[in-house]
Amino acid sequence: MTPSSVHKPLLGVLAGKREPVPPLWLMRQAGRYLPEYRALRGQAAGFLDLCFDAKRAAEITLQPIRRFGFDAAILFSDILVVPHALGQCVSFVEGEGPRLDALKDPTALDRLRDQLDHGALAPVYEAIARVRQDLPAAVTLVGFCGAPWTVATYMIAGRGTADQLPARLFAYEHPDAFARLIDLLVDVSAGYLVRQFKAGVEAVQIFDTWAGILPAREFEMWCIRPHVRLIEKLRAEIPGARVIGFPRGAGTELGRYLDAVAVDTVGLDWTIELEFARTMIQKRRPVQGNLDPLALLAGGAALDRSIDAILAAFAEGPFIFNLGHGVLPETPLTHVERLIERVRRAPRSTSYAGSWGSSWT
Ligand code: CP3
Repeated sequence: MTPSSVHKPLLGVLAGKREPVPPLWLMRQAGRYLPEYRALRGQAAGFLDLCFDAKRAAEITLQPIRRFGFDAAILFSDILVVPHALGQCVSFVEGEGPRLDALKDPTALDRLRDQLDHGALAPVYEAIARVRQDLPAAVTLVGFCGAPWTVATYMIAGRGTADQLPARLFAYEHPDAFARLIDLLVDVSAGYLVRQFKAGVEAVQIFDTWAGILPAREFEMWCIRPHVRLIEKLRAEIPGARVIGFPRGAGTELGRYLDAVAVDTVGLDWTIELEFARTMIQKRRPVQGNLDPLALLAGGAALDRSIDAILAAFAEGPFIFNLGHGVLPETPLTHVERLIERVRRAPRSTSYAGSWGSSWT
């Protein structure tokens, strides 16, 4: 078979098909739990230097594919390269996380560029092209960006906090300036994803890690509407672009999210009750998720039980197996091996193999 005729299970699910064995990948599958990542990380001056080193970023993207044979490779990078390319100062402190020069008031917005510095992002696009060259034919390359709301929370707080309160406060106190920041992030994030597709990604995920802290009205304004506009702008340039939305913590708001946002698949975090997810979400749209990263860290009976419950819940429809958030750095490799073996060992019944519409009841 020529590479282009090889079936990619992940793209099948994104097109609404149920795969007999669910495609499998893990958020943060490239990262500190892998010794080969730690080895490369140790040689680099800093985390961002790795992100902007096309050769190393491509190599790190491929590491988990070589070791585990996942169905998707997620580009190794970070959501905070976008504020960096807008001229904000971004760095990562070892063992602590990101530091940005916080946007303290509306005047701080004037210091941002109104377009991305695509020159600064060139290594990201080059890394994508390199990965595509070396990727096994059945594996899908997934690009990503942070959702405008989540990226704004880091730009305003200047770091990750337990609750990202500074951005919510800023949005109440300076609604016009905050709306301007979100608009800017919608525009530049759409443009960034367009470039990723042009460089070779086959699908993208929009990470809205902090969606769950928004009250209902603000969820509409700062999560739903920006996702809608971002995807419209992306598809104006890349018709049919495949998109996974991950509004973490959205809970029962997921219904409203799906009413408005034309994502191909929705990522579920680990807190979602499976029967709710099956009946209210998966019947409307393919789903991805949602193993608790802590169950993967724990291993043993807790891991087996959690995997089996997820497989049973989503067996009848289009489904991508993933975590409900990223792999934790302390996760033993043997637990990841056990997960893969368990998800892949028993092909699901093939009695239903058609495409999946909203009519399934
Ligand atoms: O999933 C993948 O394997 C792809 C790579 C990826 C990274 N970050 C690598 C990374 C992706 C998709 C992200 C997204 C990201 N980055 C999000 C959204 C998803 C989520 O995890 O909530 C957010 C909020 C960030 C911002 C960020 N980057 C934080 C808060 C941190 C510090 C926390 C931590 O785990 O250290 C990072 C650093 C980071 N991003 C690391 C990696 C592998 C660890 C850095 C290191 O090696 O020291």
